Amino acid sequence: MAKILAFSGSARENSYNQKLVKIAALGASKVGAEVTVINLADYPLPLYNADLEKEQGLPENAKKLKQLMLEHDGLLIASPEYNSAFSALLKNTIDWMSRAESSDEKPLAAYQGKVAAIMAASPGALGGIRGLVFLRNKLFLKLIKHFIKRVF
Ligand SMILES: Cc1cc2nc3c(=O)[nH]c(=O)nc-3n(C[C@H](O)[C@H](O)[C@H](O)COP(=O)(O)O)c2cc1C
Repeated sequence: MAKILAFSGSARENSYNQKLVKIAALGASKVGAEVTVINLADYPLPLYNADLEKEQGLPENAKKLKQLMLEHDGLLIASPEYNSAFSALLKNTIDWMSRAESSDEKPLAAYQGKVAAIMAASPGALGGIRGLVFLRNKLFLKLIKHFIKRVF
């Protein structure tokens, strides 16, 4: 059974994107996936800073999120669109999860072999589509293009 990790790029209470993730997770469960829905509000992280990482290593919440990623086969992500891009919270989370905890860890270990579905919800006229283009291009194709098998 496919294991899916689902989260949104919003920590806002009553976030539309977190609601969308829950609906998508329900759909995935109905067709047989085992879905874990998390809220990034429960995994607060400092803004990525290489000096901080050098001094303190990965924050505990980054380690927890990476572990969750490793335990799942695929991702369901919904992100708000802020000024035509996906959210800073999501970018920061992606950045921390891309970091290795030790020198013998493979690059981008948490992303290897993952399948991802990306979504957006917005009260704006375009429904967040511009942010998704950016997310797909900048995240999945540029950052981890060698490690993602398929992107839906
Ligand atoms: C700083 C800022 C910029 C925004 N830019 C956009 C935008 O470019 N396109 C859009 O559709 N909505 C935009 N919005 C509206 C968000 O889509 C809306 O606040 C949405 O509810 C956020 O997602 P959430 O409900 O999951 O927290 C913006 C909101 C803020 C606060």
